[in-house]
Amino acid sequence: MEPEPYFPYSDGGERWWSEETKAVVTGGNKGIGFAVVKRLAELGVTVILAARDTHKGEAALGSLRAQGLGRHVHFLLLDVSDPLSITAFASEFQARFGPTLDILVNNAGVSFNDVHENSVEHAETVIKTNFYGPKLLIQALLPLFRPNSSNMIRILNVSSRLGSLNKVRNPAIRKVLEGEELEEDEIDETVRTFLRDVRCGRWKARGWPEHWTEYAVSKLALNAYSKVLAKRFEGSISVNCFCPGFTKTSMTRGKGNHSPRDAASLLATLALLPPPLLPTSKFFLLRSSHLAPLSKL
Ligand SMILES: NC(=O)c1ccc[n+]([C@@H]2O[C@H](COP(=O)([O-])OP(=O)(O)OC[C@H]3O[C@@H](n4cnc5c(N)ncnc54)[C@H](OP(=O)(O)O)[C@@H]3O)[C@@H](O)[C@H]2O)c1
Repeated sequence: MEPEPYFPYSDGGERWWSEETKAVVTGGNKGIGFAVVKRLAELGVTVILAARDTHKGEAALGSLRAQGLGRHVHFLLLDVSDPLSITAFASEFQARFGPTLDILVNNAGVSFNDVHENSVEHAETVIKTNFYGPKLLIQALLPLFRPNSSNMIRILNVSSRLGSLNKVRNPAIRKVLEGEELEEDEIDETVRTFLRDVRCGRWKARGWPEHWTEYAVSKLALNAYSKVLAKRFEGSISVNCFCPGFTKTSMTRGKGNHSPRDAASLLATLALLPPPLLPTSKFFLLRSSHLAPLSKL
């Protein structure tokens, strides 16, 4: 897949980065995450492949080494659903690399439903992994972003169109999340309300998204948190969300419209946009092999 016309450079064009540039990619052992690690390494960025299982992480690293990309990739253990693992990851990053992080790709995510199912049995785990995972990781890594970077620090949250505000049928919830003055606490409260509704068995009547509900709410919260962060760090950290579209990975039981490599190619291009062209607070969407126009978070 060729980079979109939106993107002003192609391989060999203007590159602001070098092998000093460091990116963390969570859930980097397989699927879209693995493809993103590979693509960024091919482009010459130093990538920290984060995975929750040592064996899987090292196997992924081994595969990249066999493809000649080992020099650019390091493996570190990280379970994003475990706050202690997040703290340990940040300490290990600090010890090995110091405050040199330029790009964070929050990719790790879970869904327990088959494409046409909609159980909310795993709501707590899905919210903990897909929303609180990126949130706590960002907070832990904030001191490790490269100080005084002239290239703008980048946070790219891998999200989903299923978490778009228009999927929420409850106007009161939508109103809170679409507010320009939205606060972090309001997002946490929205998520707590959802989990209460699930525990009380009233989630269907309360107007939450109808498809992949627990997953959609986790991404809804992630989008909302990205908007809050983008505003807070305007001018120093670019925060955007990217929906890879229906991609053939384990999450979709191999179904989808395109490969993880296609999604990763666009995600890497987006993560590496030249500083003057880098937007913030945007939601990017890969739809049938092209990048749909930007929308506001
Ligand atoms: N595929 C799609 O159609 C699609 C569409 C929209 C958005 N997305 C998003 O794209 C991202 C990547 O998904 P994918 O399709 O590539 O799925 P995938 O193949 O199932 O990969 C998910 C990755 O996340 C990791 N992970 C899960 N829980 C974790 C945890 N607690 N800590 C650390 N890593 C964890 C998995 O590790 P293990 O191997 O250890 O399980 C795996 O590396 C997700 O955020 C997903 O929501 C995917």
